[in-house]
Amino acid sequence: MKKVSIIGAGHVGATAGLYLLEKKIADVVLIDIVEGLPQGKAMDISHAAPLRNYLNTITGSNDYAAISGSDVVVITAGLPRKPGMSRADLLTTNARIVGGVAEQVKAYAPDAVVIVVTNPLDVICHVVRETTGFPRERVIGMAGVLDSTRFRLFIAEELGVHLRDVVALVMGGHGDDMVPLPRYTSVSGISITELLSQNTIERLVARTRTGGGEIVGLLKEGSAFYAPASSIAEMAEAILLNIKRILPVSAYLEGEYGLKGVYVGVPAILGENGMERVVELALTYDERNALHTSAGSVTKSIAQWEAAKGAAA
Ligand code: LAC
Repeated sequence: MKKVSIIGAGHVGATAGLYLLEKKIADVVLIDIVEGLPQGKAMDISHAAPLRNYLNTITGSNDYAAISGSDVVVITAGLPRKPGMSRADLLTTNARIVGGVAEQVKAYAPDAVVIVVTNPLDVICHVVRETTGFPRERVIGMAGVLDSTRFRLFIAEELGVHLRDVVALVMGGHGDDMVPLPRYTSVSGISITELLSQNTIERLVARTRTGGGEIVGLLKEGSAFYAPASSIAEMAEAILLNIKRILPVSAYLEGEYGLKGVYVGVPAILGENGMERVVELALTYDERNALHTSAGSVTKSIAQWEAAKGAAA
């Protein structure tokens, strides 16, 4: 039986656990430092088993030993944004929290593929990779699937067409300078550049960029979790079932797209080994510039974190 451990039993973590059970592909372990929280949420979800016909178990624990033998570990631990905050504002706090989590993952689940979810996403991926020492195939970030699903929905709504046929690609860091790519976004194979005006596309791109923030503003407490949790389940499924889907993920680049030593969102093949290959596209001059600008923001944040860490040491 496959096993997924989710660190952080808040809204994102617990909902991802629920969606994974609904997919009937793995046992789930929820971990949190708050006593009773992962146990209580796991128990509540498992009480629905006779109604939802789950084939797997979900359990909660405060002890990292429970994650041993995991095929996939999902890290959602950390603080969410408050209204007016950018994802980058969470850096120091969440990097410290996730650094501690990553030590435990290294100790108890040394063979797992790690899906990082905590913001600021791309920098936190860097922290996890650095702390665990895992190869880049096994430390990836969830952002592109979420940003793309938002873009897909907005396009389907705008065109009044079924969203099943809309596929979208969003690259870059998971920040306000993320890079939605209209040229690689289509409805049943028809590029949206043929279906929508430039102005409309720009409006939908802008809404995609600020989609997470729009929800933070509405909720006032916490940030989005249903769409993020769905995106986690989608990535975990591709890995657990080894189905080689091409999905946009935050990946550590080693020269692809002219970028080296930085996590940034790119299309990649997901299978049992994790991020099996970065798919390189021939970007236009403007697209490539936008990607490099976005990667530059991530690099700057990494440098900030390295300096803050050094100062505290
Ligand atoms: C979002 C947050 C979770 O995009 O980053 O909703």
